[in-house]
Amino acid sequence: MSHYAHITGWGMAVPEKTLTNEDLAQMVDTSDEWIVSRTGIRQRHLATENQTTATLATDAAIKALQMANITPQDVDLIIVSTSSPEHIFPATACLVQDNIGASKAGAFDLSAACSGFIYALNMAAQAIQTGSIKCAVVIGSETLSRLVNWQDRNTCILFGDGAGAFVLQSSEEPGGVLSAVMRSDGSGRDSLSLPAGGSLMPTTADTVSMGLHFIQMNGREVFRFATRVMAQATQEAVELAGLKMEDISLIVPHQANLRIIEAAARSLEVPMQRVMVNVDRYGNTSTASIPIAAVEAANSGRLKQGDYVVFVGFGAGLTWGAAVVRWGAPFPTKRRLPPVSFRIWARLRSLVRRLLRQIEGMLWGRHA
Ligand code: UT7
Repeated sequence: MSHYAHITGWGMAVPEKTLTNEDLAQMVDTSDEWIVSRTGIRQRHLATENQTTATLATDAAIKALQMANITPQDVDLIIVSTSSPEHIFPATACLVQDNIGASKAGAFDLSAACSGFIYALNMAAQAIQTGSIKCAVVIGSETLSRLVNWQDRNTCILFGDGAGAFVLQSSEEPGGVLSAVMRSDGSGRDSLSLPAGGSLMPTTADTVSMGLHFIQMNGREVFRFATRVMAQATQEAVELAGLKMEDISLIVPHQANLRIIEAAARSLEVPMQRVMVNVDRYGNTSTASIPIAAVEAANSGRLKQGDYVVFVGFGAGLTWGAAVVRWGAPFPTKRRLPPVSFRIWARLRSLVRRLLRQIEGMLWGRHA
């Protein structure tokens, strides 16, 4: 029996707070004209104090679950792709698991920078296709605004915060994730990195004073690499899916820079009408950019059930990849979601588990 991994729900969450190019021009030596002409970005959304990578991921995941008309108990696996996890460990995915009360789900983070959502989508699809699981939530979530040096005009104009999520479910009907290519080249590790805070260079007063806890980037190098790999990965994934470029209704590329997206479209000889662009409103939300763009494309009718769509991205590592998907819809069901909010139920569940852990600790402590 063949198992196919269909996308049956999707959701996104971006902070309400925005930062325009004019706002940035008050902070660093830049201008709206420079940013728009070099990147296509006009504004980005920034997390407020109470918003984190996990809260944005949770909001996006809940919307995707509601759309798919399933409960957190139906979820077998949660993958959070992120480069701005809440901690080195525990995984942000575990915080999301607890926030939504997905009591039967495994959860892990995936670190492949801006290509991460493609990697995560492929991993979840593979787990469904082998029959190992039936339902996964794949999330791309970032609060890169917390890792950017707001005095460095080379990087601070680019990034924004947000999250996007897909629900993947198993079906015997052909469709869903059809192919994926994942590539890497660690020799380019210095092109884009966050040097300090890991085991190689733990955070010290010196690393902080040198600003090594902020994103460092050689923009031109990343630009050249990106324009080389975007078209190539797209073509490989389309071929692997047994399709031709003409079959593809929409390309949803990583939203880093309009010039990179246009260069890829030119190489592929695909008109921009068949390419999703929203970098102007969100900036580069790293691994969240592809799911956010896909959700906007689907919600605005540019991406319809049965359409063939390519997701393609590149990023730090260096990493890059592409996936071809036959776009889905919620599975038909008569089932109604329980009226209680997932969130309230999950919080209650989490409190009870913490309490039990404390009681258990006291009892064991007495016998130790
Ligand atoms: O998800 C992956 C993340 N990274 C990327 O996607 C980055 C890919 N790279 C890029 O998008 C582009 O390389 C940038 C947008 C970062 C830079 O654009 P560019 O056309 O490659 O500019 P550049 O780095 O070649 O800089 C041109 C000039 C420089 O001045 P000089 O040396 O010519 O005097 C920069 O100092 O522009 C200057 N510059 C700025 N000027 C105004 C750099 N940043 C700014 C700025 N405002 N924000």
